[in-house]
Amino acid sequence: MQSTRPLTVSASLQGLSGHTRVPGDKSISHRSLMLAALAEGTTQVRGLLEGEDVLRTADAMRALGARITSDEKGWTIEGKGVGQLSEPADVLDMGNSGTAARLLSGILASHPFTSIMTGDASLRSRPMRRVTDPLSGTGAQFLTRDGGRLPMAIKGTGTATPLSYRLPVASAQVKSAILLAGLNAQGRTVVEEPVATRDHTENMLRHFGVTVDVSPLEGGGRRIELTGPTRLSARDVIVPGDPSSAAFPLVAALLIPGSDIVIEGVGLNPLRTGLFTTLLEMGADLTIENERIEGGEKVGDLHARGSHLKGVDVPADRAPSMIDEYPVLAVACAYAEGPSRLRGLEELRVKESDRLAATVALLEANGARVDVEGDDVIVAGRSGTLGGGIVRTHMDHRLAMSAVVLGLAADRAVQIDDTAFIETSFPGFVDLMNALGAGIEA
Ligand code: S3P
Repeated sequence: MQSTRPLTVSASLQGLSGHTRVPGDKSISHRSLMLAALAEGTTQVRGLLEGEDVLRTADAMRALGARITSDEKGWTIEGKGVGQLSEPADVLDMGNSGTAARLLSGILASHPFTSIMTGDASLRSRPMRRVTDPLSGTGAQFLTRDGGRLPMAIKGTGTATPLSYRLPVASAQVKSAILLAGLNAQGRTVVEEPVATRDHTENMLRHFGVTVDVSPLEGGGRRIELTGPTRLSARDVIVPGDPSSAAFPLVAALLIPGSDIVIEGVGLNPLRTGLFTTLLEMGADLTIENERIEGGEKVGDLHARGSHLKGVDVPADRAPSMIDEYPVLAVACAYAEGPSRLRGLEELRVKESDRLAATVALLEANGARVDVEGDDVIVAGRSGTLGGGIVRTHMDHRLAMSAVVLGLAADRAVQIDDTAFIETSFPGFVDLMNALGAGIEA
């Protein structure tokens, strides 16, 4: 990874204004490279996120035998076919990306060769048992470091047993790993999720010609099924703008008085839009315009203006639809009138950092009052001046961007220890904010 990049952010003197576009959706970008590599034929991907995380996935799929090239028009992947990937000659380094590591574990479980996977210090501290435990049921073998951490060796199998698994945590990564293993398993794979999580894997598998059956579960959630071994046929993909990246300029515009911005072409998959619902409940002046279907996904333009936000109570069952947006939502809550309660955030403890602890520390360092009760975070709402703190980002891109947003609306400058990891999901973030008038001096 690049060297440390500290940054000091002062209040934006004028409101943000103008039209912009955020980079492609990270979840969809990873999946497009993986599925295209498993497909028969040539896939073109437009709008791929060219952030560090996704580039690691591209490198891994190349190391497994797919031919992947890019030019100014987009990315081209010549697929190998399900079951046809080949043993990588070296260690697969997934960098900072949990999505890359976990989804690829599923693919490798049902390929008959051995691979070794690692990542950066953040990824090497994250739990992998949530995928290795169920995937072991295929007949694949996983050898991890103590605590189920990377690096790990994966001895896949060409005769994988299909899994039938109920997710103990709401995780699209775990769901996807099991479905991807099922593509080359001998029979019916079934995953039950008690709360619906992002369904990009299911949608994209269908796009590549796989039959995926989805039915509602009694009491909420979904059952997802597919039958292996199956074949994927190459299909072109258009990646929408990432709603999780749009969250940062969006919240900044709401917090900085006089702002008026439009973020075009943002993905509006209903399992990703919890933040927008929550901001509207807080009284945000936010409209979604021009809703349309692009490349099979719902997209629209977000029009946001400076707003007077009120505190909010966010139910736990909304968490999967906005899991990556809590740090920046917590920043919005610190500027809102009245307290907010963000419920059921246990999964934040195992993100790129312990995001629950790091978000609390980010706010407290800058004068906000925050409490944690069990898995709920309570943010007191604005009472005095904010800012003036030093933020530690723990190799976490979303903490770094949340700290920038906090600084842009603060009374006193905010110092951020390292913004280098922003490159994992949002290359050009500071330039994009400055083009909207943020005035960040890098
Ligand atoms: C992702 C799922 C979520 C999310 C991550 C991307 C995906 O993780 O936090 O940024 O692409 O499937 P979990 O599945 O661990 O909740």
